[in-house]
Amino acid sequence: MEDAGHEPVLMDEVLRTLALQPGEAVVDCTAGRGGHAAQMAQAIGSTGHLMLVDLDPENLRYATERVSPSGVKITTWRRSFAEVPRALKTVDPKPNALLADLGVASTHLDRPERGFSFREEGPLDMRLAAGQELTPTTRAAPSDPATAGDLVAVLPERELADLIKTWGEDPFARRIARAIVEAREREPIRTTTALAEIVRRAYGSRARESRTHPATRTFMALRIAVNDELGALGRLLDALSRASDWLAPEARVAMISFHSLEDRLIKRAFAGLIQSGRAVDLARGGVVASPEEAECNSRSRSARLRVVQLTGPTS
Ligand SMILES: C[S@@+](CC[C@H](N)C(=O)[O-])C[C@H]1O[C@@H](n2cnc3c(N)ncnc32)[C@H](O)[C@@H]1O
Repeated sequence: MEDAGHEPVLMDEVLRTLALQPGEAVVDCTAGRGGHAAQMAQAIGSTGHLMLVDLDPENLRYATERVSPSGVKITTWRRSFAEVPRALKTVDPKPNALLADLGVASTHLDRPERGFSFREEGPLDMRLAAGQELTPTTRAAPSDPATAGDLVAVLPERELADLIKTWGEDPFARRIARAIVEAREREPIRTTTALAEIVRRAYGSRARESRTHPATRTFMALRIAVNDELGALGRLLDALSRASDWLAPEARVAMISFHSLEDRLIKRAFAGLIQSGRAVDLARGGVVASPEEAECNSRSRSARLRVVQLTGPTS
């Protein structure tokens, strides 16, 4: 099996708080490279049921293959986790635990052809759902989401600025949007490196003061928009807040976020459940990586795990 290419974050903390038992059912909403899934499969054993969900077909395939030797019953869904509550209505018994480890896998960032990173030149794609089945510039169906390149090519300046401000939280959003529009009037912006250079120039001398590359926030904003990341998370949390009859009574729900916009949504939804007596907090204030983990896995530095346990009734 090829190397996973992704180091899971907060593994011990996830396993400790979920406290999985042999024979339980678990839904991993973001199977990714199967790091968490493999450990969860060990914990529930061959009598357990592991449901693997991912938008990315290649990751879903990889995670399934990685988990298979455990002998656990596996169900796979290549779809958005926003659809998981509906899919689970017909599953019996219901999951005793749910994990969502949000965002992208390291393999997305490490493969220039996916267009998530500007370290190397690649097409401005950023669709999680694209996977290997598509060439970077070909859509599978008209319903497939727009690529980052599409957004950069067509959005009016004002909308681009709002997008970069809201989802990238970049204080220079207006200046960047202006620079993008001026650049695309000269020639189409086709590659990750071309866009990164336009943003760097828009920053001007301020680029030197920026701790990260000036294009980091713009790329994050585009990625969030292309994959409707906050919309999907919002729909999953809404379903949990409305009714949790798609989960087992006393199910544990763990979510790992990587930026404040995601964490705010999770924190608010979990607080609502706790205040209404429908859940208890299993990770007060959220758990962050230990200094040791932060030292050897840089992705973990921005990770925050929140976990609740439902107290029932389940609807
Ligand atoms: C951080 S990685 C998960 C890594 C995984 N826990 C592991 O240990 O390998 C996030 C994964 O979630 C997937 N993903 C992101 N948004 C999604 C969504 N709305 N629905 C389903 N999968 C999604 C991505 O394709 C990616 O594979």
